[in-house]
Amino acid sequence: MIALDPCTAEDLDDFLVLALDPRITARIGDGTPWSRETAVARFRRGLASCGRGDGLWFLARDGDDLVGVVLGELDHLAEIEIGIWLAPDHWGQGHGRALLGLLLPVVRLRFPGVVPTAYANVDHAASAAMLRAAGFVDDGTLTGRYGTEVTRFVAR
Ligand SMILES: CC(C)(COP(=O)(O)OP(=O)(O)OC[C@H]1O[C@@H](n2cnc3c(N)ncnc32)[C@H](O)[C@@H]1OP(=O)(O)O)[C@@H](O)C(=O)NCCC(=O)NCCS
Repeated sequence: MIALDPCTAEDLDDFLVLALDPRITARIGDGTPWSRETAVARFRRGLASCGRGDGLWFLARDGDDLVGVVLGELDHLAEIEIGIWLAPDHWGQGHGRALLGLLLPVVRLRFPGVVPTAYANVDHAASAAMLRAAGFVDDGTLTGRYGTEVTRFVAR
């Protein structure tokens, strides 16, 4: 059974397995592969946000098998941006939708009244389908912070 464990500093190596996989980062940010330095910095930033109380990072595992990472990070106090990266051998099996179903109640409990959002490149059909299946609705398109055209999704 897949379970979510809060991330700790000891999870860096597992995070790197995901963040250094170009099949995953092809759909994150500007789509270019991440250096180890970039990935370590992102992980530390995430843990720092958890430490400050404005982030939630979880590793999803099925026993010893790493399934992915799911996270929420408060953005300007008005919204909490959700992120989810799965190991490629777990794609297309409903795990993305199921993990969002586990994450969202925790996010709502921890940040009551704050709107969960997610941003997906406009051509990322899997992400859009997963977000809609998990209860997100489209809220228009914009040029994202990495210069790509993204759809903004909101969980009401
Ligand atoms: C995006 C990602 C999280 C999706 O997770 P997933 O477990 O494969 O998705 P699910 O199996 O839960 O599928 C959810 C929906 O997406 C659909 N879907 C899955 N893969 C798809 C694909 N390649 N193309 C179109 N739709 C797809 C499923 O059919 C399902 O829709 P349905 O409920 O209408 O049948 C996963 O592919 C991933 O981690 N990719 C790399 C990182 C990434 O892109 N993160 C998101 C950035 S916004």
